[in-house]
Amino acid sequence: MVSYVELGLVNTVELFKKAVSGGYALPAYNFNNLEQLQAIIMACVETKSPVILQVSAGARKYANQNLLKNMAKGAVEYAHELGCDIPIVLHLDHGDTLELCKDCIESGFSSVMIDGSHHSFEDNIALTKKVVEFAHSRKDYVTVEGELGVLAGVEDDVSSEHSNYTQPEEVEEFVKKTGVDSLAISIGTSHGRTKFKPEQCTRDANGVLIPPPLRFDILEEIEKRIPGFPIVLHGSSSVPMEYVHMIEKFGGHLKDSVGIPEEQLRKAAKSAVCKINIDSDGRLAMTALIRKVLAEQSEEFDPRKILGPARDELKKLYAHKNNNVLGSAGRV
Ligand code: G3H
Ligand code: 13P
Ligand code: ZN
Repeated sequence: MVSYVELGLVNTVELFKKAVSGGYALPAYNFNNLEQLQAIIMACVETKSPVILQVSAGARKYANQNLLKNMAKGAVEYAHELGCDIPIVLHLDHGDTLELCKDCIESGFSSVMIDGSHHSFEDNIALTKKVVEFAHSRKDYVTVEGELGVLAGVEDDVSSEHSNYTQPEEVEEFVKKTGVDSLAISIGTSHGRTKFKPEQCTRDANGVLIPPPLRFDILEEIEKRIPGFPIVLHGSSSVPMEYVHMIEKFGGHLKDSVGIPEEQLRKAAKSAVCKINIDSDGRLAMTALIRKVLAEQSEEFDPRKILGPARDELKKLYAHKNNNVLGSAGRV
């Protein structure tokens, strides 16, 4: 068993307090491999931004949980070597069982998400509460993110009366009964690169899909009921068309890609939204640059020459988000 403090990591308590009062959001970037982690740390050191490193169950399976944990420990030392001791959180993304959360907490994660959003309200409370009790009773307090409301997917009709947006009237009871440190909500974001069906969007003069706006009215209602409480937005990639077009130019097919416009994320970041989750944009940037290099340099077979440009692009993307979207730059 190891505590995150021994790894040089921090939990989210102080970071969220500062983010809510400062009107910005912390970047929560997923990583699965060395190049993604290098890019995240380089960008966050350069922009002087705190960062939440997210590990999903899929990432644990792909890369091995011990390797990922030690990479996060290495990231703390790497940031120091680069010249800025940025606060780094190691967070379990979309934990779905108490056992998985416990395993991560005992192996050095400083924060976990228990995603009980697919359960009934009562079962979600019961499961989340168990995780909170375990996490908060550790010698070093581990923070817990819960979720209320199910993120819309391409399968859902977000305009229907029966959408799964977070119901503001449930948040107070959920937060009080579970004791969570932050709450992920559903106001129209969704995971992946196709966040809305084309029929839910309009199109601009170039035929590019324009998504329906996020439900800021629901966010405001939630903020009224739990003032200042840290709110989290999942599914917040913007799906830059520049990468979609590059992927398509070099042989990929990414029909109907559409993300959350950056201005809307900026607006959210100024509210009690203090953590914004981004994974798909990193995947798009990496894939675009890997396809480009392979297409343009057909004799290249050194993985460093193939992954290096992807890593550089990722760094640029993350720095842009910290500077221009989340407002987390310069907050160390
Ligand atoms: O919200 C999900 C994240 O993008 C992680 O995705 O489960 O494929 O690792 P993953
Ligand atoms: P995106 O798929 O929009 O990047 O969302 C990632 C996420 O929410 C991770 O939990
Ligand atoms: Zn998510």
